[in-house]
Amino acid sequence: MSKKLTAYIAPSILNANFDDLENEIKKVSGTADFLHLDIMDNNFVPNFTFDLDQAAHIMKISALKVDAHLMIAEPDYFAPRYAEKGAHSVTFHFEAAKDVPSLIANIRSNGAKVGLAIKPKTPFLDVADYLSDIDMLLIMTVEPGFGGQSFMEDQLEKVIQARSKINSLSLVDVLLQVDGGISENTIEMAAKAGANCFVAGSAVYRDANPANMVAKLRDLANAAFI
Ligand code: DX5
Ligand code: ZN
Repeated sequence: MSKKLTAYIAPSILNANFDDLENEIKKVSGTADFLHLDIMDNNFVPNFTFDLDQAAHIMKISALKVDAHLMIAEPDYFAPRYAEKGAHSVTFHFEAAKDVPSLIANIRSNGAKVGLAIKPKTPFLDVADYLSDIDMLLIMTVEPGFGGQSFMEDQLEKVIQARSKINSLSLVDVLLQVDGGISENTIEMAAKAGANCFVAGSAVYRDANPANMVAKLRDLANAAFI
């Protein structure tokens, strides 16, 4: 039998007020596990958020560990720079990476944990062989680029496949993250499929009480684990 999972909640500030980030981050600092920082370059995805310097500033003002999600076209060069600037974990997209094993090693040697992300059209099998070399697998549950989109239920099959492989390899410390459309209505199905790290942007920041919402999401996920 595999060990019962523990849920980690990572609010995304993509839908927070960018003009008052310090205060927005403080709203969840007491309850969240990580701060999910979406980096978009207007190339890999049709949207721009923060560059490396802006991200470094956010890492400085955040009391939470920063989980940097790089939706950028050149992770081989840039991902290790985010590690160097102090990100707790740096997640790059499989679809954008030129040399996955070297990139994993470079992020790690610059002091961060390694996340590997796949878009909805990328099969789990494309990344299955990297599971023992990474700290987190991110299965996107929307097309990356924008917050506030609907959860893609058809991605849960990949979450089930990934959980089964993680368990069969006894990789108890590898996080299985889902990102996109996570809310009170969807988190339980993602948890039941085997995800244990949940990014939530609009569900948290559109709520009147973001801290309560983080706690509520965590409770729902923990109660859904079998
Ligand atoms: C989408 C981003 C997500 C997004 C989540 O490209 O990677 O982190 O901000 O936002 P919601 O929870 O609103 O889907
Ligand atoms: Zn993200």
